[in-house]
Formats: sequence, structure tokens, C-alpha cells
Amino acid sequence: MKKPAPSYKTKELREFGEVLRGRRTIELFLQTPVPDALVKEAIEAATWAPNHHVTEPWKFYLLGRDSIAACLGLVCDIVTAKKDAKAGEFKAKSWAEKPGWLVVSCRRSDTESTQQEDYAACCAATQNFLLYLWKAGVGSKWTTGDITKDARFFDIVGIDTDAEFVVGLIWYGYPKLTPTQSRRPFNEVLDELP
Ligand SMILES: Cc1cc2nc3c(=O)[nH]c(=O)nc-3n(C[C@H](O)[C@H](O)[C@H](O)COP(=O)(O)O)c2cc1C
Repeated sequence: MKKPAPSYKTKELREFGEVLRGRRTIELFLQTPVPDALVKEAIEAATWAPNHHVTEPWKFYLLGRDSIAACLGLVCDIVTAKKDAKAGEFKAKSWAEKPGWLVVSCRRSDTESTQQEDYAACCAATQNFLLYLWKAGVGSKWTTGDITKDARFFDIVGIDTDAEFVVGLIWYGYPKLTPTQSRRPFNEVLDELP
């Protein structure tokens, strides 16, 4: 006799699903500091992401006050060059309100398939980080904006561009405002084959 599958209609699974669905990209943060120990727990949890051949291709850079200040100066310069000084200052001022800054990088590989798999693994690790924080009430924003492609940013963070590339800059903090989002109808994304 085959054993019936265990019930999946559990409170734990429902709550887990709520974390997955409820996480939102946060733009506006409270200035309440996020405990450093929580952030480090989230980074450790991130490293349990699946990664083919257990390459563990990720690296995490937790920015402190000086490196954040350098990034604010840099974004001011980038936006000033692209638009004007007023826009640069405005951008730097708005970024100064991002409480926590984490950069995730991925190891470079000479093999295209390994590079793809390693990048996928780093994205999975990043999502682990976001979800762990979200469950603790901490929101985040994953950005791949201009700054994350700028050589001066690599210098500030200490990215060795021969060996790694940036997967994202993650801002995190307690949300001031949690936006709503929608997704395409589920039947548009699922094909069930015979
Ligand atoms: C790889 C990646 C890069 C992203 N880069 C940016 C970005 O540069 N700027 C931005 O506003 N949002 C960025 N986002 C966040 C998306 O805009 C966001 O996930 C999307 O709007 C869906 O919202 P949600 O995260 O609340 O579901 C990025 C997300 C991912 C996964």
C-alpha cells in the first residue's frame, strides 16, 4: 500500500507563501537601524542557495559609513554629468536615506555555461537574502543602476573586475511604505504538458 502524501495544507506553508508573495521592492525606508547581526544572519542564509557543482560563486560586501558616503559622492557626480548639479544633489540626498547597503558579486568564469549557472546561483542567493530580511520585517531594493557599472564604484567597494562582477546593490531597511504589485494571471505562465 502506498503511503498518502503528507498534508500540505499547513499554517506554516501558508505563511511561507505569504512571505514569498508579500515581499516588495521598497523605495522609502524608516531611519530605524537594522541590527547588524540580523543582516549577517541573512547573508549566511543566502549562501544556502542552490549552486551547480557547489561553486559558491558569490561574495557579499557590507558597506559602512565611509563607503556609503563615497557612493553618495559618486552618484552625485554620475547624475551631475548626465543631467545637472541640482539633479545630482537631489539623487545623493535621496540615496542618503537608504539605511543599509550590500553589494553582491559573482565570480567570473571562462566557461559560458558555468558563468550562467553561477549568475543564477548568485541571484538565488540574493533572493534568499531579501526573503530572510522580509520575514524579519525588513524591506529591500535590488538595483543594477548606473552606479553598479561604474569603475569608481568597483574601487570604492573593492570589486576585482578580473575576477568578479556585480550582481546587484541591495538597499535594505524597515519600510516606510510598502507598495502594491501585481503579477500576470497564473494560467499565462504555466503550461501543463500531457
Ligand atoms: C536583477 C534585478 C535588477 C533590478 N534593478 C532595478 C533597478 O535598477 N532599479 C529599480 O528601480 N528596480 C530594480 N529592480 C527591482 C524591480 O524593479 C522589482 O523587483 C519589480 O518592480 C517588481 O517589484 P517587486 O520586487 O516588489 O515584486 C531589480 C530587480 C532585479 C531582480
